[in-house]
Amino acid sequence: MKVSDLPIPDAAKQILTESGLSELYPPQEEAVKAGALEGKNLVLASPTASGKTLVAELCAVKHILERSGKVLYLTPLRALANEKYTEFNKYSAIEKPNGRRINVGISTGDYDSSDPWLERYDIIITTNEKADSLLRHRAKWIDEISLVVADEVHLLNDSERGPTLEVVLARLMQINPDTQFLALSATVKNAEEAAEWLKAESITTEWRPVTLKEGVLQQNEIQFKDGSAFKIEKHSANPAINLALHTIKTGGQALIFASTRKNSVSLARKASTEIEPLVSKPLKRTLQRLSEEILAVGERTRISELLAELVAKGTAFHHAGLGGAHRRLIETGFREGRIKILTATPTLAFGVNLPARMVIVHDYRRYEPGYGYYPITVLEYKQMAGRAGRPRYDKTGEAILIAKTEDERDYLMESYVLAQPERIWSKLAVERILRGHVLATIASDFAHTEQGIYDFFGKTFYAFQYDPKAIKAVIIRILKFLYDEEMIEVDGENVRATKFGRRVSELYIDPVSGVTIRDALKTRPPVLTALSYFQMIAHTPDMFPRLRPYSSEVDELALFVDEHRSEFMFPVPELWEDHIAYEEFLTEAKTAWVQQVWIDETTEDQMIEQFKVQPGDLYRVIESARWLLHASHELARLFGVSKDLLSDLDMVTERIEKGVKAELLPLVRLEGIGRVRARILHNAGFKTLDDLKKASIEQLTALPLIGPKLAKRIKDQVGGFIKAEEWKKLKKGDDWEQRALTEY
Ligand SMILES: Nc1ncnc2c1ncn2[C@@H]1O[C@H](COP(=O)(O)OP(=O)(O)OP(=O)(O)O)[C@@H](O)[C@H]1O
Ligand SMILES: [Mg+2]
Repeated sequence: MKVSDLPIPDAAKQILTESGLSELYPPQEEAVKAGALEGKNLVLASPTASGKTLVAELCAVKHILERSGKVLYLTPLRALANEKYTEFNKYSAIEKPNGRRINVGISTGDYDSSDPWLERYDIIITTNEKADSLLRHRAKWIDEISLVVADEVHLLNDSERGPTLEVVLARLMQINPDTQFLALSATVKNAEEAAEWLKAESITTEWRPVTLKEGVLQQNEIQFKDGSAFKIEKHSANPAINLALHTIKTGGQALIFASTRKNSVSLARKASTEIEPLVSKPLKRTLQRLSEEILAVGERTRISELLAELVAKGTAFHHAGLGGAHRRLIETGFREGRIKILTATPTLAFGVNLPARMVIVHDYRRYEPGYGYYPITVLEYKQMAGRAGRPRYDKTGEAILIAKTEDERDYLMESYVLAQPERIWSKLAVERILRGHVLATIASDFAHTEQGIYDFFGKTFYAFQYDPKAIKAVIIRILKFLYDEEMIEVDGENVRATKFGRRVSELYIDPVSGVTIRDALKTRPPVLTALSYFQMIAHTPDMFPRLRPYSSEVDELALFVDEHRSEFMFPVPELWEDHIAYEEFLTEAKTAWVQQVWIDETTEDQMIEQFKVQPGDLYRVIESARWLLHASHELARLFGVSKDLLSDLDMVTERIEKGVKAELLPLVRLEGIGRVRARILHNAGFKTLDDLKKASIEQLTALPLIGPKLAKRIKDQVGGFIKAEEWKKLKKGDDWEQRALTEY
């Protein structure tokens, strides 16, 4: 089927043809034949890289241009939302019948808003969590949605992220039964079951545009699925690196999946020395620039220094310990063919398009603390393997597992390469997870009676797969909890949320967090400090990640706890009374302590040294903290606590956001000034905006990390006079300044 023959507006055809798309892939054709463009609900379960996104694009264009509809595109991850945003943006050149152009919007942050500004977008891309929070705020424009695309819908199976997706889909179906649902999924055994739940037709294909050769390496021989075999050269003792080198020598790039951050780093280290001799001189020069950029986008740490060093040699690692800016630079560097070997943890396995000719699955086992090793699922393996051989980049792809023995090779061949992905199962009926959703159902008026609540949850995938009665038992327990904690009121048949309950639901926090914060604000500790707030939020189930102490830290931490006993919002459990509670407390205390040293301006590198907390984790703690402090502020307001406490909370929130002592706050409020530069200014005697107003450009540029461009930007913000000749004398900003203009 040709793109030109499709029943879609010419403008869209033109854009597709210009981007090199002229013929539909068979799964796309099947979807069109099944009525995707006529508004039929579909579950499209098709292998990685088979072009599922395009089906969504075609439907979207059709809805917007021919039915003045609105499209909601749901993704499980922010990174994927960003990629889809770029992909959909190509349609923003098209004019709609009303003369305006197609508008593509993305919203993934701030869970306490209905984002009314999204109203003017035709295509709205969000994460599942953001969509859930928008539903809780009853965003008005949601009623106008006529097409919902759920990407990576097999994640219904994921115990953390699945339930939210499931609830979001059930709500959207309830709000408007006429909405078209398009669910995109990896191939799974029970796609039909998911389809039945969504009142959709299911299409399952095994087709892939680029041949993916899957195999297992043992010794130095790869055995492929089709029975063929291939010998590779042995350069290093590490089989994964030998595989990667083989790919690079034939002009490709390799992506190695490791099970832990540590393994990804050590593999990258080893690989870098092996490939360095293969990197050409011109490539080395561009790599050098990328390497400098890595050092320029944030604080220097031992991790960013190592990353920069490896990148200069054509290798990189990618894991959640890296900050977002670094991860993006690495992804782009790999996408543009500069980085030749990328080692990554499995977070990179979903939906992204990367030019990996070969994917190497280094470990098929994962370690879960307190549980031990377990083998990954076939579904997960297929997702990783599917990053190899993406249509725009390579003609074929290879995905290789590594075996130590022949026995293991046979096992891997049978259990992964030749195996079918598992069934997906709803993970909704877990009290911890369901709590917030039950409250939201009441608070956002999706149900007004107990029966209404059961009816709603009776329409979830869980109820469809199992017995609605099973979920009812959990809901009853939750309702009792919500009633006891005064989040809901019962009046005969009717159930209503109290103000407290409604606000907790909107704030997108676990009801248990709401209770924790409420209780803490009522009973204050003898000495109230920033640490008190940090412990309060670390005590909630929404603090993520929880920073577990290493055994070497326990003594020091116990000392810290002892010293700050009077500041904690929740009392310290006695070790001899309750060992587990005490250990849990130490985790909380560490998480609180890390926040404390962050606002005392400890550098990111010192954080790694002192707490073994990597920047990525630190940023996530900061993000959770900002969120929970905002929630605390809102609840404090609701309960009418004193003005002092509210302004205290404001100050702590701002300090955690910027990582500074209070004295730097006026400076970091300026654009282009982060905590590093603010400290430099402050130490040089520029402590207030007035000081800066009086400063000359020369005085400012004499300071480290402040170039003429930034100096001018500061002056523009604080006012004050710049003499024309003074300005002219200054040369244009250096290259580094351009790049380092981020808050820093
Ligand atoms: N008909 C087509 N002709 C040429 N290229 C295409 C066609 N359809 C899609 N592509 C390209 O194929 C690549 C993979 O598509 P897409 O990301 O939609 O895969 P997917 O099925 O969603 O895979 P995953 O399961 O990994 O998310 C994209 O780069 C896309 O531009
Ligand atoms: Mg996809």
